[in-house]
Amino acid sequence: MFGSKFKAKLADPNSSLALIHRLMTEQAFGQRKNYAIAGVLMAIAAGATGLTAYLIGNVINAAYVDKNLQAIIVLAIVTAVLFMVKAIASYMSAVQMARIGNRIVADNQRRMFSSLSQQNLEFFSRHHSVEFLARLSTGASAASQVINLLVTSIGRDLLSLIALVTVMVYQDPVMSLFSFVVVPPAFAILRKMIRRIYAIAKSQFHGTTRIMETMQETVQGVRTVKAFTLEDQMRARLDANIAEFENDSNKWARVALRASPLMEALGGFAVGIALVYGGYRVLETGATPGQFFSYLAAFMLAYEPAKRLARLNIDLNTGLVGVRILYDIIDNPPTEPEHENKPALALTTARVEFKDVNFAYRSGEAVLRGMSFVAEPGKVTALVGPSGGGKSTTLNLVLRFYEMDSGSITIDGQDIANVTRASLRRQISYVGQDVFLFHGTVRDNIAIGRPGATEEEIVAAAKAAHAHEFIKAFPKGYDTPVGERGTQLSGGERQRVAIARALIKDAQIILLDEATASLDSESEQLVQDAMARLCRGRTTLVIAHRLHTITHSDRILVVEGGSIVETGRHDELLRKGGRYAAFYRLQIKEQGPLNEPIPIAG
Ligand SMILES: Nc1ncnc2c1ncn2[C@@H]1O[C@H](COP(=O)(O)OP(=O)(O)OP(=O)(O)O)[C@@H](O)[C@H]1O
Ligand SMILES: [Mg+2]
Repeated sequence: MFGSKFKAKLADPNSSLALIHRLMTEQAFGQRKNYAIAGVLMAIAAGATGLTAYLIGNVINAAYVDKNLQAIIVLAIVTAVLFMVKAIASYMSAVQMARIGNRIVADNQRRMFSSLSQQNLEFFSRHHSVEFLARLSTGASAASQVINLLVTSIGRDLLSLIALVTVMVYQDPVMSLFSFVVVPPAFAILRKMIRRIYAIAKSQFHGTTRIMETMQETVQGVRTVKAFTLEDQMRARLDANIAEFENDSNKWARVALRASPLMEALGGFAVGIALVYGGYRVLETGATPGQFFSYLAAFMLAYEPAKRLARLNIDLNTGLVGVRILYDIIDNPPTEPEHENKPALALTTARVEFKDVNFAYRSGEAVLRGMSFVAEPGKVTALVGPSGGGKSTTLNLVLRFYEMDSGSITIDGQDIANVTRASLRRQISYVGQDVFLFHGTVRDNIAIGRPGATEEEIVAAAKAAHAHEFIKAFPKGYDTPVGERGTQLSGGERQRVAIARALIKDAQIILLDEATASLDSESEQLVQDAMARLCRGRTTLVIAHRLHTITHSDRILVVEGGSIVETGRHDELLRKGGRYAAFYRLQIKEQGPLNEPIPIAG
């Protein structure tokens, strides 16, 4: 009966029992030696506690019955030594447990990061970035907290309790029976509380996450918040989140702390019964006072560990909320597994071909519709067209940020779906529409393009990207910090650093998404020139809104509604008088006569 219920609980992966089982087998088992050491230390401490309680009986008898001062002194010294042994063993076991716990936290943080690094863009777009931080900090420590709670409860509290109960039973079995009548009602009460505790702890976690989300959005969007004077709105949002969390925390305290006074009241009841019966035994049946006192001492000492054990389930369930949060992430099957059983992409000329590619971010909302074209080796192919037409999406698919629904993309005849993602991405230089710089210096950010790049290579790349001049003008030069996400640089400077990063990578395929969008005419010409160098002799796919930057491209593709509606060279397309010509004329009218652009390919 009990066995089958137990098995059923174990089979449900979300039950507390299954989670504990998993923690024990996956994480605690590897630390079993350290746990054994901690266990031995705890057993020593528990034994010392039990012995102290036992010896009190002898002291009392020596004082009241035998009137032997020498014996009392000996017993006092032994007791003092026992306390010392207990103190040392407790300290050592506590240090040992903390070290094991820290190791488990570290392991979990690594496991979680490794799991995240094997997820695709779609996975990340489904969650708020803060959620990962909250899960990382809460989840990793919850696992170690739960395991240590269990080990400490069993090792320290349970062993102490066993030692003390042994003393109690030895001194007076009948009196012990009286004290234990309070155990069943205590358990009945605790069981009821656990469900509530679990629900509250879960709500607390989501509350913390929401507070962090608002906090992060206010900080990252500080310009927008200030420009639109959204401070009051953000404060109101944060206030609501904080009030909710405070409320949850108070609820948790009300329920969880209720365990203590309940146990206290029940304990007092047990002491009362024991006192009456013990007094009766001494007075009426001639038991020694030593027995009585030793019993009482054991009872008092047993009280704290018993209370902690009773609370165990409450603390466990609070911690298990965090463990579930951790496993939620770790258990996500990798959408971009690190180890793919596929060959690497082998480039010869780097000819990229789209064949009838269809793709939708959300099923039913087609973004690319039968896209077909060839980016010839060593040539510049430009994608132009209205906003939202699917240009950036086209590049996303080349990098396999997303998987297409049908059709194929081949590079030198190899379907990119049949080669490893890492080998594909390693051979592509990409400058995205939103430039992202890492926290660090300008040098770090360029060097990221090629691990182990030398100083000369970094400077050469910066020169070619026309970034060297402005970097040199900074007092700290290449050691200038760029700030979080590059916010300490101007938009155009950020872009040139990103281009230098792509240049240093020296890949055969180049994808540029609006790489000159935030530049003035002069810097744009500089960057155009830089890009012309970057693209020379390589297969380049470039997206541009300002058409004069691509007038010298080898081939222009007009993308509209997710497919190619026109192709040709600039002058051909102008002569044709179709979509491109209309587009171009509109821009000329808006922007006025343009400087003669520097060609980006020869
Ligand atoms: N991650 C995404 N999830 C869902 N839809 C998306 C996502 N990214 C883009 N889209 C949608 O796909 C369509 C094509 O977007 P894409 O970014 O390819 O346009 P684009 O041609 O690069 O436009 P722009 O010139 O403005 O950069 C748009 O309607 C856009 O709303
Ligand atoms: Mg785009």
